[in-house]
Order: sequence, then structure tokens, then C-alpha cells
Amino acid sequence: MQLSEIAEFLLVLGAMTTQKNQKVKTVLITGGGSGIGFETAKLLVAENYRIILLGRNREKLQEAARSLGGASDRVSIHTCDLRDPASIKKTVQKIEGTHKGLYGLVNNAGVYPLGGISDTSAGTWDEAMEVNVKGPFLLIQAFAKAMAKNPAGGRIVNISSTAGILPNHFALAYSVSKAAMVHLTRTLAKEMGKDNITVNCVCPGIVRTPLHETYHTSKSELEQFYAKRGASLPLGRIGEPSDVAGAVKFFLSEQASWVTGETLVVDGGRLLS
Ligand SMILES: NC(=O)c1ccc[n+]([C@@H]2O[C@H](COP(=O)([O-])OP(=O)(O)OC[C@H]3O[C@@H](n4cnc5c(N)ncnc54)[C@H](OP(=O)(O)O)[C@@H]3O)[C@@H](O)[C@H]2O)c1
Repeated sequence: MQLSEIAEFLLVLGAMTTQKNQKVKTVLITGGGSGIGFETAKLLVAENYRIILLGRNREKLQEAARSLGGASDRVSIHTCDLRDPASIKKTVQKIEGTHKGLYGLVNNAGVYPLGGISDTSAGTWDEAMEVNVKGPFLLIQAFAKAMAKNPAGGRIVNISSTAGILPNHFALAYSVSKAAMVHLTRTLAKEMGKDNITVNCVCPGIVRTPLHETYHTSKSELEQFYAKRGASLPLGRIGEPSDVAGAVKFFLSEQASWVTGETLVVDGGRLLS
């Protein structure tokens, strides 16, 4: 067994131990190793939830779990590629083997491919749909039955984007995939309410996360981009991951138990400007 596998095993063991405390609610966060997903995990750990972080990169997830600090017995990690249905199936089986009664699923992982009609390849289109829509659909489908049996009910929070409401310039596949996420939310909210499962959606505007780093040649160019975009917003700044995490926390909370099919825009006023 490699050192990284031992560390992962210990994290899973910790999760199984704390599983005995039935009052702790378990929430799976996809893309939990960075950005909005990680910040949501931080907030939820502080609120006494048990967290499962999911992503493709084991080292990144381990680092995220470590930096959640003393709460490591409350945090476990699973590697999974949302483009691959077989990987999703395997991950779901592993999670169901260690965590009985998932309470929350935060479909946060996402990719942001750029391109318009002339330069969006079929592969780019497929990737956006697979990671941003089909993966979330398969996860919801896989966990729906177990969630329905959970006495506390179930909570699904989908992370879309303002691009799902007002398309982003030169981001065809992304905007369409995020619009699908809004409608997936509303459609499933109608169907899953009978099982006491709420389905809600958060649409962030521009937020400082690694998602933007690939599209800028230098740190200073990225900072200029953030400053310019922030200045154009009614609230005068771009968002931080914690601005979005608070909205996710609300949809998972007791206070939101009669809220479903809702789309909450968290964008500093972007859609007004
Ligand atoms: N930042 C913004 O301005 C903004 C605005 C609106 C909406 N959003 C949405 O917010 C969500 C979180 O993004 P973020 O801004 O926090 O950026 P981020 O830090 O880059 O997070 C994206 C996450 O998705 C995961 N991911 C990507 N492809 C995956 C795959 N095939 N399988 C599994 N996981 C995959 C990545 O993990 P690995 O690479 O380790 O797999 C990463 O942790 C996304 O859905 C994004 O569209 C962001």
C-alpha cells in the first residue's frame, strides 16, 4: 500500500467511526478540492457536517482534507472523473459502503471551455455536458433512493452560473450546460419533493477561483481582469468563494426545508448591470 493510499484509508476509517453519530449529516461536494467547493466544505465542517470531497486529483483532495485541519475525522475523499460513468458508478458504490444515508449532494464540479459556434468542437461540447450536467444527473440518480430513506430528508444543491441565465460571451457550451443545470434543478424539484428531497440551484457571477487561472497568461493580467470586472458590478467587487458557500449552506440548512426548485443568483448585482 502506498503512503497516499494509507492516508486515504485513514480518512475513510475516520468517516466510518464518526458515522456512529447519526446526528451528523453527510454532504458530498464534487470539485471539493478547490475554489467554491473547498470553501463550502470549510463552512460546512465548521457547521458540524460530515464532508466527502470528490475530484479527479487525489493529492489535491488530500491537501484540501489536510487543510480542513483538526476536523479530518469528519472529512473523507474520493477520486472520480465525472466524464466517466464507470468511474461515477464505482465511486458511488464506495461511498455507499462507508457512508449510510447521504443527506446532501452539492454538484459543484465544473469546467469552463471557451468558444462560440465556429470554434466549439464536438469534444469540447461533450466535456461541458458530461462534467457540468450528465455527471450531476448520474450522481443524483445514484443517490436518490438512499436519500429518500433518510429520516432527515435529502438536499441537492446544483452550482450553475449567471451564464445559465444570461449567456457568457464566447462560452457557448458552458452557457448551455449551465442553463441545463437550472432546468435540471426545477424538473427534479417537482419529482423529488414527495421523498422530502429538496433540489435548489446557486448561480454565481464572477468569483476568484482557479477556474479563471487557465485563461490568463500572468497573475497581473488575471488581477487586472478581476479588478475591471469587479468595478463594473453594482457591488463594486468580484465574488470570493465564501460569498457562494454561504448560499449553499442556506439550501442545506433546516431554514430551507420548505424551499425547492429555487435558483439563487449570487453575483454582486451582475445581472442588473
Ligand atoms: N469562478 C467563477 O467565476 C464561477 C462563476 C460561475 C459558476 N462557477 C461554477 O462554480 C463551480 C466551481 O468552480 P470554481 O470556480 O470553484 O473553480 P475550480 O476551483 O476550478 O473548481 C472546479 C472543480 O471541478 C472539478 N472537476 C473538473 N473536471 C472534473 C471532472 N471531469 N471530474 C471531477 N471533477 C472535475 C475540479 O477538480 P479536479 O480538477 O481535481 O478534478 C475542481 O475542483 C463550477 O461548476 C463553475 O462552473 C464558477
